[in-house]
Amino acid sequence: MVLNKEWFVKILNVRKNLRITSVAVCSVIILASCATPSMRELADANDLKIGCAIQAGDLVTENREVIVNENFNLLLSENGMKWANLHPNQRFWNWSDVDHMVAYAEEHNMEVKGHPLVWHSQLPTYVKLMETREQGIEYLQDEISTVLERYKGKITQYDVVNEAINDDGTMRESIWYTKVGPDFIDLAFQMAHKADPTAKLIYNDYDVAFKGGAHADACYELVKGMVERGIPINAVGFQLHLCGDQPFNEKALRDNIKRYEDLGIEVEFSEVDVRIPASAGDQIYANQELVWKSLFTVALTEPNVSTFAMWGYCDLLSWIPPVFPGYGQAHLYDKLYQPKPVYNDIKKLLSENINK
Ligand code: XIL
Repeated sequence: MVLNKEWFVKILNVRKNLRITSVAVCSVIILASCATPSMRELADANDLKIGCAIQAGDLVTENREVIVNENFNLLLSENGMKWANLHPNQRFWNWSDVDHMVAYAEEHNMEVKGHPLVWHSQLPTYVKLMETREQGIEYLQDEISTVLERYKGKITQYDVVNEAINDDGTMRESIWYTKVGPDFIDLAFQMAHKADPTAKLIYNDYDVAFKGGAHADACYELVKGMVERGIPINAVGFQLHLCGDQPFNEKALRDNIKRYEDLGIEVEFSEVDVRIPASAGDQIYANQELVWKSLFTVALTEPNVSTFAMWGYCDLLSWIPPVFPGYGQAHLYDKLYQPKPVYNDIKKLLSENINK
């Protein structure tokens, strides 16, 4: 497509109407000259971060690297920053996977998110054996300041605390909660802010996306309390590991996003996948597609949603089958690395939204 005066006027109007950044305006210009824009280009033009949790091998395997580079403007490491992997022994840090991802992202002009700093799972033995509050605080301080100082200006956002709440809305009695105390969350955010005042700091959890659920409402109360206490928190991550065989409550999702907006807290869709049972028939496949499209529609139309990150891109490399036996097919690419039909529907939604 050739750029002419009419196109430039159109682009300027888009900018005026949407109040989007100049990065997005440049992207619109690039898009206008491309025949088939990639998902990543469409994400840039929508001023939306579309991210993915990747595995170390993704960046060094040709066909996988192409998919990552073509689709995403935000990267996370699926396991590389988990405490047991990054810092398995008090005197040993295993930086290689994360360093490699950060260098790749820098080279390809992508943002990087750190996940997670403080979690109850995938902890090394020395942390699991902590005995006192003082020891726990020392571990938190060491982990958080070492990571954030190393990646200052390179990793721009962190899931500071992950999954601190139980399904029923009570606090999880994790090693952090029991040994450090209920204020471990506030402390972790304060330490993170001190180590890198420019980083976006996020509380991340599952089953917290739909207003009215016990877990979701407890998450809101937790974040609200943090805001009221002046704790430096910027965003909440809705993991959104959804089931394609379940109905999708768009209103409860939008209502939840809005109440965080009223608190001044941004929302990220942080770990999206939509799993279905192995026995799924046409109706479930159709519902799964509807769930994917509804999530993108909400992300594109709620200004408080900045990010749409997926927990993996491909059914072959998925974390779902071992964790949810009988379920799978939760990602946008199939086991042969081919995009599913809904992938093109999503690109269409992204494309149509640019000129709205
Ligand atoms: C999962 C990984 O995908 C698996 O490979 C690993 O065995 C366990 O952890 N919520 C989170 C992620 O915040 O860190 C989890 O990742 C998936 C659920």
